[in-house]
Amino acid sequence: MAILTFNNVSKVYDNGFHAVDNFNLSVQDGEFIVIVGSSGCGKTTLLRLIAGFETITDGEIYIRDKLANNIQAKERDIAMIFQSHALFPHLSVYENISFPLKIKKADKTKIKEKVTAVSKLLKISSHLDKKPNSLSGGERQHVALCRAIVREPKIFLMDEPLSSLDATLRTQMRMEIKKLHLNLGTTFIYVTHDQTEAITMGDRIVVMKDGKIQQVGTPEEIYEKPNNIFIAKFIGNHAMNIFNGSILSEGETLYFKTDDEIISYFNLSAEVQNILKSGNYIGKKVQLGVRSEKISLGNNLNSTYTAYITMIEKIGSDRYVYFSAFNASYCAKLSNDTSNYKIGDTVTFAISEDDIYLFDAETENTII
Ligand SMILES: Nc1ncnc2c1ncn2[C@@H]1O[C@H](COP(=O)(O)OP(=O)(O)OP(=O)(O)O)[C@@H](O)[C@H]1O
Ligand SMILES: [Mg+2]
Repeated sequence: MAILTFNNVSKVYDNGFHAVDNFNLSVQDGEFIVIVGSSGCGKTTLLRLIAGFETITDGEIYIRDKLANNIQAKERDIAMIFQSHALFPHLSVYENISFPLKIKKADKTKIKEKVTAVSKLLKISSHLDKKPNSLSGGERQHVALCRAIVREPKIFLMDEPLSSLDATLRTQMRMEIKKLHLNLGTTFIYVTHDQTEAITMGDRIVVMKDGKIQQVGTPEEIYEKPNNIFIAKFIGNHAMNIFNGSILSEGETLYFKTDDEIISYFNLSAEVQNILKSGNYIGKKVQLGVRSEKISLGNNLNSTYTAYITMIEKIGSDRYVYFSAFNASYCAKLSNDTSNYKIGDTVTFAISEDDIYLFDAETENTII
């Protein structure tokens, strides 16, 4: 059942800026939705619209089956967790966590029970008497989560909750928030501009750009079938490699021809050729994309494309080899690489026709 439904929701700020533009989405009860997009694309605005901190300019938001446009924030039963934790510095951890229950005038014994249970769940029982400023960033984040959990909200909204933490803690907290979601079974809407967080945490990911949804899908769908070049470049540890060129025909056979002065040709599979023919792409400008893990490098490849190695990055057992070709820069991910490439080496690279993405250069949408 849908717990949250957006129907053509838009937000225009008083200065005329369109922060959210015609947003449509249905969130299922218990889902972990990640909203991802670069800075300024409208993620926080969207959360504020859900929480009721901002009014909607156009469209409707339903919480369950109830139109929520005019329901006040405090009546919505939604908890929002901010990047800054927003803890009260003069109150102890216990008082911080119990604050929302105290406001609701809950029974003292009940409050104690709940705070004890939740602080055990997030492993902060030994910090209950301390003030927030004597805790680490990660511990403060746990307190902020506890304070949200005791409210037993219908929906958790999280606005970049991990962005102030260091890389190790962020990875650890990512898994803890995932576990928390499994434990609670409540709907989570999590905002980030970090594609790794999106890919690792979301049941479904919503990719946004300039206030608009670019794509909604599972992490696998978004990674393997990006709707357009923006998503292809945004999602993935290394942006997808993009070659500029056009579609050329020789008799019945179609090729991808690179744009630069030393013209090179890439073979295309029969399936791709058929799609290009029916879409009238012959002679048109397109962009060819390939993921870094799908590029082969070597001296014995059946290939005529030359790669000049400019940089090598080692991450654990993976090696990211940056190279220049056709006057542009590309990256190949080699795992368990036994060869010893050095900066300045010249090798060849190859791409299988099955691993190619093609994008319409004009619309930037995926052709295949
Ligand atoms: N009160 C406001 N009045 C006018 N414009 C605003 C207001 N609040 C935000 N904006 C603008 O709306 C756009 C979206 O802002 P928002 O805070 O939702 O972005 P965001 O995706 O959360 O970005 P970030 O990743 O940097 O947090 C931005 O261009 C911002 O400048
Ligand atoms: Mg924001």
